[in-house]
Amino acid sequence: MIRFQAVSKSYPATGQEALTHIDLHLAAGEMAFLTGHSGAGKSTLLKLIGRLDTPTRGQLWVNGRNLNKLPNRQIPYHRRQVGMIFQDHRLLPHRTVYSNVSLPLVVAGVRHQDIRRRVYAVLNKVGLARKANSYPVSLSGGEQQRVGIARALVSKPPIVLADEPTGNLDPELSRDIMSLFVEFNTVGVTLLIATHDVNLIRTMDKRIIHLQQGRVQPTPGRNASSTNYQTSFAEDLARH
Ligand SMILES: Nc1ncnc2c1ncn2[C@@H]1O[C@H](COP(=O)(O)OP(=O)(O)OP(=O)(O)O)[C@@H](O)[C@H]1O
Ligand SMILES: [Mg+2]
Repeated sequence: MIRFQAVSKSYPATGQEALTHIDLHLAAGEMAFLTGHSGAGKSTLLKLIGRLDTPTRGQLWVNGRNLNKLPNRQIPYHRRQVGMIFQDHRLLPHRTVYSNVSLPLVVAGVRHQDIRRRVYAVLNKVGLARKANSYPVSLSGGEQQRVGIARALVSKPPIVLADEPTGNLDPELSRDIMSLFVEFNTVGVTLLIATHDVNLIRTMDKRIIHLQQGRVQPTPGRNASSTNYQTSFAEDLARH
C-alpha cells in the first residue's frame, strides 16, 4: 500500500536532511503509529505520502503508484485517496464547521442530500454535530482538531494519515478518537498516525515505527517480545 525505498528528503531552504534513507512498507489494511522526538521527521514523512512534498532521493509508492512519476494532473486524485489530519488543523476560517467538513465531498461531486447525511454522521462520531454552524475561531483547540479529523474521514479514503491527532485532546476524547480510527481500520482503511501519546500507544497492540533524526530505528530482533519492546520504548519516550 505504502512503500518507501531509500527515500531521503532535505529542505532546500536549509539543506538539512529531514529524512535519511527510509525503507518502509505499510501493508494494505495496516494501522501503525509513527513516533519520535520533535524534529525527527514525522510530519515530513506523512507529507511525502500525501504528495504535499516530494522526496529528494529514492522511490515512494502509494496505492500502486510511484509518486515520483505521478503527473501533476493526477495529484488531486491521489490526494482524494489520502485523508490527512494536520498537526495545525488547516481549517478554512471563513467557513462553518459544516462547510469545512463537507468540502471533500463537494469537490468529489457527491449529491447534496448524501453530503448532509455523511457530514452529520461523521460530526456525530467526533461529538461535534451541535457545532455544525460555528466558525473555527469560536472553537477550542481540541474541537478544531476534531473538525480536522471529521474532514479527513468524511470521504472514507482508503488511506488516513494523522499528524498528532490527539495532541489537544483530553485522555477520554483521545481514546474515543483512537477507537474511531480502529473502527475505520477494521473495515480495511490503512492508517499511519504520528503521535507522542505514549499512554495511548501503550494500550494498543499496533505496530510502532520509530523515527530518530530522520531515520527509522530498527525493529526488535526475533527473540525480543514486541510487547516488551513497545513498553520499553514507551518508557523511553516518557522520559523525554
Ligand atoms: N519547510 C521546512 N523547511 C525547512 N526545514 C524544515 C521544514 N519542515 C521541516 N523542516 C525540518 O525538518 C526536520 C523534521 O521536521 P518535521 O516537521 O518532519 O518533524 P516532526 O517529527 O514532525 O516534529 P514535531 O514532533 O515537532 O512535529 C526538522 O529539523 C525541521 O526543522
Ligand atoms: Mg510534526
